[in-house]
Amino acid sequence: VTTSSTPLRCGIIGCGQVAHQYAATLATASLVQLTACADLDADRAEAFAAQYRIPLATRAENILNRDVIDLAVVLTQPDSHVTLARQAVVAGIPVYVEKPLGLDPTETAQLLDEADRARVLVGAAPDTFLAPPAQTARAALDAGDIGTVVAAEAALLSPGPEAWHTAPEVFYQPGLGPLGDMAPYYLATLAYLLGPITHVHAAATTSRNPRTILTGARAGATFRTHAPTHTSALLTTATGVPVTVAASFDIAATSRPHLEIYGTDGTLVLPDPNFHDGPVRLRRRGQREWTELTQNEPTQPPGRGMGVLDLASAVLGHTTQQATGHLAHNVVEVIHAIGHGDPASDAK
Ligand SMILES: NC(=O)c1ccc[n+]([C@@H]2O[C@H](COP(=O)([O-])OP(=O)(O)OC[C@H]3O[C@@H](n4cnc5c(N)ncnc54)[C@H](O)[C@@H]3O)[C@@H](O)[C@H]2O)c1
Repeated sequence: VTTSSTPLRCGIIGCGQVAHQYAATLATASLVQLTACADLDADRAEAFAAQYRIPLATRAENILNRDVIDLAVVLTQPDSHVTLARQAVVAGIPVYVEKPLGLDPTETAQLLDEADRARVLVGAAPDTFLAPPAQTARAALDAGDIGTVVAAEAALLSPGPEAWHTAPEVFYQPGLGPLGDMAPYYLATLAYLLGPITHVHAAATTSRNPRTILTGARAGATFRTHAPTHTSALLTTATGVPVTVAASFDIAATSRPHLEIYGTDGTLVLPDPNFHDGPVRLRRRGQREWTELTQNEPTQPPGRGMGVLDLASAVLGHTTQQATGHLAHNVVEVIHAIGHGDPASDAK
């Protein structure tokens, strides 16, 4: 049994793009202190440590040790999330993992079983639902502002990352695509607000294969997708709420909102769940206009990394964890069920 004291010594594994956003959030936090970082690319870990004044840059196996850190943050590519998280759990270290928690629900279930047995907390991204918009929606639902929830709709309809990313192939790897890469934001917010998702029906397709890179030095080059590029799904929550979710890298233009929740007495519209800000609008039955809801000041600065502080606060016994591994596992289950058995998911 540990006695953890503030600040928790925190180690980042994977010092790539998203790690910089985490460092910015965690640098100002009082609950954690960045004490170590690791990357397969030693130069990258060294540079990251220098930039954020992190005392130790080394390999992952050297920091997954209770003598070195109290909390691990895994920010590597998705295919290594479960392996690294298990190493942390085996070492008795609470671990927070970027999304998706894993690519296979059997593996994420095993990870959580192991963690629960060892009484080690696992947290996972996305953490955008900890930010003011989703928290405001949560308060509105709890206050009965829209009555009883009847249904919800979520739409991630994009023209694809090749429009803005110079190396978009990473988004089209097996298990990713709009479903694996982006739907976690929508599904986690829905699961947080409406409870676990238990039933899934889906259809998927792959189009524009090969695709063309549209920006950067390689503009004009083509690549193939290894994941479906458009998915439509009909989900049901444990409480029987039907939810439709569309996730696409095939849509040239859309006017659909990102997320709407319909109740017996009104409708809530949420902003893009990929981000930590944006307006939440409410229109009650009979009203002619939408009202933008006032959002409470967040207790932590909103940004990627809020979930780490949610985990740290739970480790210290201050608050109940919200961005849990179990919620993230439900998201992995849903993504797997949507992709499972569809011929398009085998796109080569
Ligand atoms: N880039 C973003 O803006 C963004 C936003 C939200 C979420 N994410 C998520 O963050 C994760 C990382 O994405 P990224 O864009 O930062 O990727 P990235 O490729 O820029 O960085 C990943 C880093 O992890 C390192 N790495 C891989 N395996 C490792 C291991 N076993 N031990 C130590 N280091 C290892 C790599 O060398 C690389 O430096 C993904 O799960 C992604 O879905 C990224």
